[in-house]
Amino acid sequence: MGVGIRYAVLMAGLAVVAGRVEAQQAADSLPDGVTPAMVAAGKKYFQGEGLCTACHGTDAKGTIGPDLTDQQWLHGKGHYPELVARVFAGVPMDSSKSGQIMPPRGGSGLSDEQVRAVAAYVWTLSRAPRKR
Ligand code: HEC
Repeated sequence: MGVGIRYAVLMAGLAVVAGRVEAQQAADSLPDGVTPAMVAAGKKYFQGEGLCTACHGTDAKGTIGPDLTDQQWLHGKGHYPELVARVFAGVPMDSSKSGQIMPPRGGSGLSDEQVRAVAAYVWTLSRAPRKR
């Protein structure tokens, strides 16, 4: 093998390893119990059958409901278990900070599993690196 070919093979090998490390880091930075597949599915539910965009906007920056992409939380600190609980429960009038309410599950028919996925997507929105 010529030096050029050996170099090309070496670089290709390094690129594969780097890709694996990156994917692993992405998975490692997610909360316990959350997978990249859940985040991807959650994005779909957020923008579709979860009805979330009706009040949080298609970019999740807020309309009737608050911006979910900033690091300001009206309720809790944005930890994943809090977000799951929030989506399950919604925000009734007696705990609303804005005078607007959110129905449980956003008023959608999302299953428990779908709620955990949509909360996983919401969790990623306020965290770097931004992929939107
Ligand atoms: C009918 C409007 C409406 C829909 C639909 C809705 N929300 Fe909300 N959401 C709100 C409002 C209003 C608040 C904040 C209430 C308050 O002022 O305390 C809120 C709050 C939240 C919070 C807490 C934000 C914070 O700052 O603490 C999260 C997380 C959230 N919504 C996620 C979702 C998700 C995910 C969906 C879709 C499954 C969804 N919402 C659907 C109106 C809505």
